[in-house]
Amino acid sequence: MATDTVKRRPQNAQLAVAVTGPTGDLGRALVPALLRSRRIARVVGMARRPFDPKSAGWQRFEYLQGDVADRDAVRELVRGADVVVHLAFAVLSASDATWEINVGGSRTVFEEAIEAGVRRIVYASSVAAYGFRPELPARIDEKQPALGSPEHPYSAQKAAVERALNALLETAGARTQAWVLRPCIIAGPRARTLIEELPYVRAARSLPGPLVRLARSAPLLRPVLPDPGVPFQLVHEDDVAQAFVAAVFGHGEPGPYNLAAPGTLTITRLAHELGWHAIPVPRAALIAGGEALRRLPGAPAELAWVHALRRPVLMRTERAQKLLGWKPRHTALRTLRATIAAARAAGTPLV
Ligand SMILES: NC(=O)c1ccc[n+]([C@@H]2O[C@H](COP(=O)([O-])OP(=O)(O)OC[C@H]3O[C@@H](n4cnc5c(N)ncnc54)[C@H](OP(=O)(O)O)[C@@H]3O)[C@@H](O)[C@H]2O)c1
Repeated sequence: MATDTVKRRPQNAQLAVAVTGPTGDLGRALVPALLRSRRIARVVGMARRPFDPKSAGWQRFEYLQGDVADRDAVRELVRGADVVVHLAFAVLSASDATWEINVGGSRTVFEEAIEAGVRRIVYASSVAAYGFRPELPARIDEKQPALGSPEHPYSAQKAAVERALNALLETAGARTQAWVLRPCIIAGPRARTLIEELPYVRAARSLPGPLVRLARSAPLLRPVLPDPGVPFQLVHEDDVAQAFVAAVFGHGEPGPYNLAAPGTLTITRLAHELGWHAIPVPRAALIAGGEALRRLPGAPAELAWVHALRRPVLMRTERAQKLLGWKPRHTALRTLRATIAAARAAGTPLV
């Protein structure tokens, strides 16, 4: 029955979209972008914490509180959807303990979407799905396999989710198709995790006001970021949202798409844009220090991200530009500046 529904629907009909994780960094940019389109009939989103769509000014949006690990909740979410966008994931906190929620939860979303006969799944994978592997070329295109790095739980889980999605689609036949978007670090006025989660910023939140003011008035006391010399890419939340909207409408063809803004950044550039200092440090020393800390009992899961400094992982984005018609409007540097300005305006203690 679901197949008949899909077949009868004209290509330009309005779409009903279901989104997991609509309240995160990416969801807060994507949902308004979807709602701006007249070709979207309605959006229903699901995450675990309470959320009032009115507080975000979202019309034609219905919020369901639920967990992707709960099959009944997922079934309810995808019922009647033409397209399912899967964003929900434990990102910074990814660890061996999140395998079930990240990989198992994603599999549940895909299984239920396929069972409901949706036309398209749009999945937020990541540059990390490629892994931080020595054999990768200096600029990675989508022909490279997404093998992940076993030492980096987020990377390994992103790669495993892509494998699970491909396997499910192969066995399910060609009724549902998948667009797999692989952004680099997403930033922007709403997506401020890059800045908010810097260790100094986290620590400064608990510093007494006079100490923060002292650091502000004395440049020598400003934070110092260690720079292991690994360039990285950024992409603006609104540009990523545009790529997701194109995928929701089925532009291009199914398959993987890299997303990154023009230009690369360094930790030194990041530090200077914040008005901080940077010192070069040997990459091997930083990684060894991070690995040693990671083995301590009670070490935070976030330390696993030190592994991402092993080598630059920079992507080519011609496929998204050619097939999705994706034209990023913001360079990496402009994105960084917009993120820092928004963090300052929001009162984040950047000194
Ligand atoms: N941000 C980036 O730089 C970046 C880059 C590349 C790829 N991505 C990918 O893009 C997607 C979205 O990332 P993001 O930055 O928006 O993440 P985020 O800010 O951490 O938001 C995660 C969203 O998922 C929800 N969520 C988490 N676990 C859930 C669960 N078990 N069940 C239901 N909802 C759950 C969260 O809400 P609750 O906590 O209330 O459930 C929130 O809405 C992720 O798949 C991420 O891997 C992000």
